Amino acid sequence: MAFIGHQFCRAFSSSTLRSVAIKHVVIVGGGQMGAGIAQVAASTGHQVTLVDTSEAILAKGVKGIETSLKRVVKKKFADKPEAGEAFIEKVLGCVSTATDVGAVVESADLVLEAIVENLKIKQDLFSGIDKVAPEHTIFASNTSSLPIGDIASVTSRLDRFGGLHFFNPVPMMKLVEVIGTSSTSQDTFDSLVNFSRALGKTTVSCKDTPGFIVNRLLVPYMLEAVRLHERGHGSKEDIDVAMKLGAGYPMGPFELLDYVGLDTAKFILDGWSAMDADNPLFAQSPLLNKLVAEGKYGKKTGEGFYKYK
Ligand code: CAA
Ligand code: NAD
Repeated sequence: MAFIGHQFCRAFSSSTLRSVAIKHVVIVGGGQMGAGIAQVAASTGHQVTLVDTSEAILAKGVKGIETSLKRVVKKKFADKPEAGEAFIEKVLGCVSTATDVGAVVESADLVLEAIVENLKIKQDLFSGIDKVAPEHTIFASNTSSLPIGDIASVTSRLDRFGGLHFFNPVPMMKLVEVIGTSSTSQDTFDSLVNFSRALGKTTVSCKDTPGFIVNRLLVPYMLEAVRLHERGHGSKEDIDVAMKLGAGYPMGPFELLDYVGLDTAKFILDGWSAMDADNPLFAQSPLLNKLVAEGKYGKKTGEGFYKYK
């Protein structure tokens, strides 16, 4: 797929960086996070190449971007529907797709990974790209829970590797956690901060510790809600209502787990319990395990704690 809106992408590229001017972003993983990041990057004038394992998955990712863009322009261009249509066309024109990452990194300033939450699979991906990507290309992971340093360790560019942790849904959530390892250079870190800001996000700086800031607090909270329910101390519906109306959360913990993906939540929990088996915050949940074993991953598969149309 060609960059139909090439001019738009260049014209609006706004990452002004000391080291690497990030104009072309290769995003590997076209699921909920990769597609969301691609949308926001393209909307802010960056050239985006979205990579996944099959054309069918990529088509679904691009369709998701289009649907989300329609929701955005409905408000942004409420009085000018034609301008909204033109904006969508330009943004989609900045997104191309590919199934072979090695073939598209040649001009990449940043390769950002948003694939399955599995260390070995992420390492295999980056070790392959490291051999073909240009010297200046920065690598970043959107991992929810894995140490960035462990993912980076298989590459020869430890100074040009960091974490960019976006939140779901990416077009709506204003935060990006920027993670530097002990080897990440200051120029790389600054480039990642400037890129996130160019996407309209607010950044916080995080150490390379499990879950960074948000997930280290959010994931144990959500899993405590599941355990509370497992103990028979509240229905999932009541717990969700309680946390929305009593604590002001936009979603209850069960709704949010379904939104994040139960497979991802289990990957996070399994990784942390393997690192710190005695920590009760990381204890296994039989209910979560059962739903994942049944392929009920939440909203993305149509069923998790709740059913979705
Ligand atoms: N794309 C574009 N616009 C969207 C959107 C999307 N994907 N989702 C919501 N919106 C916008 C739309 O403008 C929508 O209006 P329309 O329905 O008219 O299109 C508006 O938001 C309101 O949306 P909803 O009525 O559907 O619902 P809402 O008011 O509850 O807002 C929400 C939706 C923003 C997702 C809100 O419920 C929320 O903030 N939920 C919490 C999300 C959260 O905590 N995310 C972090 C998860 S943890 C994580 O991401 C880290 C990790 O590593 C696991
Ligand atoms: P997802 O299941 O929606 O999408 C993952 C995508 O990666 C799939 O389309 C899959 O086909 C693709 N993929 C897997 N292996 C691949 C490979 N080797 N090469 C190319 N594509 C590959 O998952 P998601 O929710 O988008 O999460 C992706 C990453 O982002 C995970 O690391 C997750 O922990 C992290 N994350 C998730 C959330 C969330 O709320 N879901 C929030 C922040 C970060």
